[in-house]
Amino acid sequence: MAVAEFSASRTESWFLTSQFSLSSSSTRFYNHRRIELRAPSRARNAKVLCSIAPSQVQAPVTPQVNEANKNDCYGVFCLTYDLRAEEETKSWKSLIKVAVSGAAGMISNHLLFKLASGEVFGPDQPIALKLLGSERSFQALEGVAMELEDSLYPLLREVSISIDPYEVFQDVEWALLIGAKPRGPGMERAGLLDINGQIFAEQGKALNAVASLNVKVIVVGNPCNTNALICLKNAPNIPARNFHALTRLDENRAKCQLALKAGVFYDKVSNMTIWGNHSTTQVPDFLNARINGIPVKEVIKDTDWLKKEFTEKVQKRGGVLIKKWGRSSAASTAVSIVDAIKSLVTPTPKDDWFSSGVYTNGNPYGIAEDIVFSMPCRSDGNGDYELAKDVIIDDFLRERIKKSEAELLAEKRCVAHLTGEGNAFCDLPEDTMLPGEQ
Ligand code: LMR
Repeated sequence: MAVAEFSASRTESWFLTSQFSLSSSSTRFYNHRRIELRAPSRARNAKVLCSIAPSQVQAPVTPQVNEANKNDCYGVFCLTYDLRAEEETKSWKSLIKVAVSGAAGMISNHLLFKLASGEVFGPDQPIALKLLGSERSFQALEGVAMELEDSLYPLLREVSISIDPYEVFQDVEWALLIGAKPRGPGMERAGLLDINGQIFAEQGKALNAVASLNVKVIVVGNPCNTNALICLKNAPNIPARNFHALTRLDENRAKCQLALKAGVFYDKVSNMTIWGNHSTTQVPDFLNARINGIPVKEVIKDTDWLKKEFTEKVQKRGGVLIKKWGRSSAASTAVSIVDAIKSLVTPTPKDDWFSSGVYTNGNPYGIAEDIVFSMPCRSDGNGDYELAKDVIIDDFLRERIKKSEAELLAEKRCVAHLTGEGNAFCDLPEDTMLPGEQ
């Protein structure tokens, strides 16, 4: 295969853009594919390697070189294809723009291909992926973009890469914020909060300035609850309820443990709430969870196991996995991001709910206001949610919820300088950690 080298001097980032043209008829459908590579505005030395240069294209019989864009496009993407799928694509939705930060990382490497395949937003939803990376990861980001191109996903219309959040978040309807610094050796938790908090403060500002005002934001980078709080505080134009901290992985882990103990398949476990922080203080709620529609405590009679072993297994699962695997969970995290999105874009089944870290203002459970806390949510499938009703909270549950709440309030004091609430004061409880830290 011929290899052509494309040097992009004086541009800071490169966009690999695949566009489908709209039909001239009033019915909205896409019948041609055009993918182009264009240089954006900012300065940067970047190199993009592609498989074939425009001059080397030997057009097969059906596709034709798109003369109008000959100079803008690159290699195989200079061809215009007749997808011959007009009938099928007549009902396709309009393009959705999804930003992913930490796009060159392991979690994204699993997630992006699920997003591009249609598995997340549906087989009739064309998608633009806007990838945010760092200066250091830029080459890897190009590699990811190349793999996305090579996968030839029919629903994937645009892939752009950049290190500038203001560029990447432009008009996005979803922002999946995965990129964060891991805690290094000897780094205090307060230091981690500060370093990552600054990233999320900047990204909040960028979302506020350029994203769709109804953007849904899922914060994955740890410590995700407080990062989500920082992000939303820096994005006053976007409703605070649109920000989520990912606790769906914890929910999935809890479902798995209950299913194993009860000897049932995990789809029989419902109403699984994770309360609180994505840390070792999180509370997997076996009081409200159900197995085959029956309260867990009536199916698993071993209350001691539920209170100790089950709870600890879920709280520390991330750390145990790191010890075995040598790195943080990536595939299961990506799956849980998919689950979290799907829970917001499809109606929640009757009598069930899902967990998400959301803004606490107005919550009916007595949890302190103005933090991001994982709680049971329901959605009618329009991207929004409401907090679940008919939730029981007994003294045991309340006490544990309070511990996680205290931790999050302490984290919040620790990042006051990033949320516009004055000087930070760090008095973090020492015994609490991220799931992966023990
Ligand atoms: C996980 O829950 O697996 C991760 O959040 C662990 C970590 O600390 O990266």
